Amino acid sequence: MSLKKLTMKQHTNAERQKFAGVLMSGKISDRAYLRYLKNQYYCYYALENNTKFNLPDDRLKRSEKILEDVRELQHKLYESNRDMADALTESTLKYGSYVDTIKTKEDFMAHVYVRYLGDLRGGQMISKKVPGSGKYYEFDEPEELANTIYRNINDDMADEAKKVFEFATKLFVEMGSDERKSLLEETPTDGYALMTGC
Ligand code: HEM
Repeated sequence: MSLKKLTMKQHTNAERQKFAGVLMSGKISDRAYLRYLKNQYYCYYALENNTKFNLPDDRLKRSEKILEDVRELQHKLYESNRDMADALTESTLKYGSYVDTIKTKEDFMAHVYVRYLGDLRGGQMISKKVPGSGKYYEFDEPEELANTIYRNINDDMADEAKKVFEFATKLFVEMGSDERKSLLEETPTDGYALMTGC
């Protein structure tokens, strides 16, 4: 087997969420994507600043790159930094605490697999559809980095990997739960709404 096969059900479930469709629609609003990025920043920051475990290669690190994308969109939307924490969802905050409780290198690697290989693979499709310059998805030597992840994983990590998918899917649910479609996707009236602050 492989972790890919062992977590296929979880991956399919994530892809079926409404927010996955919005991300891939090419129409996600700057605001909705910015909110998503802020949550991703927090999750990656937690992993990359873990006191016990390190990523297998520093070039995988995403938090600074996500922050650059956040700054770009904040600038575009005239938003200040103080709104950063307001965007964080329940699942993101829980994930941050959860990461601090990881006890083994194997469990930590399951997180690296789900997040960073996801970015190296499916993330490359998503990057073409989202606002901004997408530094989040730019990797030096992506194949070398993917192989480093493959070398460090095994099938015994499946249970922990499923938990990571659960957190990521919960974020998709939270992001997609805004009933006002116009907040998720761009509409022709957005320019006017922005000018008037509606
Ligand atoms: C918009 C939603 C998503 C799309 C469109 C998407 C798409 C894809 C695609 C096309 C691949 C490559 C599949 C292949 O190699 O055959 C992939 C791989 C992967 N994705 Fe996603 N994905 C999405 C969401 C997620 C989420 C939420 C996660 C977890 C945080 C995730 C984690 C992964 C992982 C770990 C792989 C690598 C699997 C492997 O080769 O072992 N994906 N994704």
